[in-house]
Amino acid sequence: MLTNKTVVLGITGSIAAYKAVDIASQLTEAKAKVKVIMTEAATQFVTPLSFRSISGEPVVTDMFEPKSEFSVQHVSLAEAADVVVIAPATANVIAKLAAGIADDMLCCTVLATKAPVIIAPAMNVNMYENSITQYNIAKLKARGFIFVGPAYGRLASGKMGWGRFVEIREVVDTTQQVLRRGSDLAGRHIVVTAGGTQEPIDPVRHIGNRSSGKMGYALAEAARDRGADVMLISALTALPRPVGVELTEVRTAQEMYEAVAEAVAEADALIMAAAVADYRPMELSETKIKKETATLTLKLERTPDILGDVSGDFIKVGFAAESENLIENAKQKLHKKQLDLIVANDITATDSGFGVDSDRVVVISSDGKADSLPLLPKRQVADRILDKVVELLAKR
Ligand code: CTP
Repeated sequence: MLTNKTVVLGITGSIAAYKAVDIASQLTEAKAKVKVIMTEAATQFVTPLSFRSISGEPVVTDMFEPKSEFSVQHVSLAEAADVVVIAPATANVIAKLAAGIADDMLCCTVLATKAPVIIAPAMNVNMYENSITQYNIAKLKARGFIFVGPAYGRLASGKMGWGRFVEIREVVDTTQQVLRRGSDLAGRHIVVTAGGTQEPIDPVRHIGNRSSGKMGYALAEAARDRGADVMLISALTALPRPVGVELTEVRTAQEMYEAVAEAVAEADALIMAAAVADYRPMELSETKIKKETATLTLKLERTPDILGDVSGDFIKVGFAAESENLIENAKQKLHKKQLDLIVANDITATDSGFGVDSDRVVVISSDGKADSLPLLPKRQVADRILDKVVELLAKR
């Protein structure tokens, strides 16, 4: 039940606009207060009256409507919202939001709100696949906007392709899920590691790996948004410093080990998303190594296994990057490192894993239960992992 929750439902000018009537109806049935904002184009497809009848609330269509209760305080809906859902969202509204344009009530509200925003796109396949739209979507995703769909299927043009509005159930379920999360990590201390460690060979060279740090940063930001105090222990990355998160920068596996060992003393959970080097050069050359010989042998030694070595009264979450026997290898790591959860990642997939913005992972818990998630933006993967952390914390 969504009692006392306010959903601002934005409807834009797509042929799928009529489906939003059902979304409004299901959310109202779940006891949410549904405040509908329609763009002018949306009113060409469905009438405001349909939504007013379903939600029992006034429907906003015009920013300057003198009789509207929202007309004076144009940001009042932005403040009232527990979540904003734009379904269906056209390429046009997505572009405006990505650019920060606020020329109608819906865009104004989104720009002014601090609530999470869910976007369910619906558009022609060429519009969707256009690199401008893809760029706008990526930009919004990186800012934490939650995208549901679009789906592949038959479009209004009669063509098959990506751009179809998702099933209504998916929009309603995502809304429920986002609302339930709220501040479920308030008061919790979460330590997240991110990025790939670097093990120096000489003053200018190091042994590194391809981790971008995106998963760890997404986890830190998601945990922050759910109310946690977050300590992010990060190897060098090209990512911007996240706001509202305590950041400790490290370089080597040894430095990360020391930072984690200190941070976990107060932690409720440790999530090791970092790609930690397993070996480092035994000797660090003080001077730049010259190419004087035909071959060069570097002798390596093991680094500390951070996740395996630290212990205490906190939830331990590890990642397993595997190129074969995904589940089996991940389960072995889970037991060996005494984890509560392991997130298994198939690094051979090109659309998932290192450097890209999306991941297809399997989350395995210590009782052996494996939950295969679909291909999702890293931020959504982060929230799904945190959902499980919240469950585990509640059981402690
Ligand atoms: N990890 C760690 N310290 C290390 C190596 C890995 O804490 N020295 C953590 C990673 O952050 C990850 C998990 O352990 O959460 C598994 O990492 P992975 O590299 O997949 O496993 P390894 O233990 O290194 O095993 P292998 O490389 O043999 O597959």
